Amino acid sequence: MDLAAFNPKDRDEVETLFKKVFTDSAGQSEGLLTSKLAHDLVEHTASEDLYGFVAMQAGRIVGGIFFSRLTFDSKINAFILSPVAVQTDCQNQGIGQKLICFGINHLKNDGVERIFTYGDPNFYRKVGFEAISTDIAKPPLALTYPIGWLCQSLTGNEIESIVGESHCVAALNHPEYW
Ligand SMILES: CC(C)(COP(=O)(O)OP(=O)(O)OC[C@H]1O[C@@H](n2cnc3c(N)ncnc32)[C@H](O)[C@@H]1OP(=O)(O)O)[C@@H](O)C(=O)NCCC(=O)NCCS
Repeated sequence: MDLAAFNPKDRDEVETLFKKVFTDSAGQSEGLLTSKLAHDLVEHTASEDLYGFVAMQAGRIVGGIFFSRLTFDSKINAFILSPVAVQTDCQNQGIGQKLICFGINHLKNDGVERIFTYGDPNFYRKVGFEAISTDIAKPPLALTYPIGWLCQSLTGNEIESIVGESHCVAALNHPEYW
């Protein structure tokens, strides 16, 4: 398996991957919603505010992930991981964790201090995330499942509270994702 930065020429293949995987795992409407998110992130996000990575096997994209900038009133360099998917027939082989760690390492080398995500704590704790309260860092929109608000520090320091409001990129700025 090879891990690489997302190349815009692979946009259609990556959107199809998100559509298929989320349709398989959570139903058609989640599939459509998540492929729209991937599309909008690539189409409408400034390059300095977006990272994408893929996992390839035998010339096929088997995993995809995006990180987009999360801006706080205080000057902290933060991104949010969303979405991530591994082809349904390739899950539970370690690809998801390797892809996430590859991406996080890349962001860390670029000086990113905090990574957030919103998802299942049981999965994301395997790749270094911990659940935080919304008092520690305010999410940009109201959360349907506050238990899924997760963070990791990339500086080696403890997660300290961040003062003020947060703002996500336009592609993620819709209540249905939260
Ligand atoms: C979540 C996902 C990216 C993980 O990738 P993967 O390659 O299947 O995961 P890995 O093989 O690296 O890790 C497997 C481990 O994660 C666990 N895991 C996978 N999905 C999980 C989930 N949704 N909740 C809790 N644990 C999960 C597995 O049980 C397994 O645990 P074990 O090692 O203790 O047995 C992938 O399963 C996927 O695309 N799922 C559907 C879409 C999705 O839910 N995306 C995440 C939300 S944005």
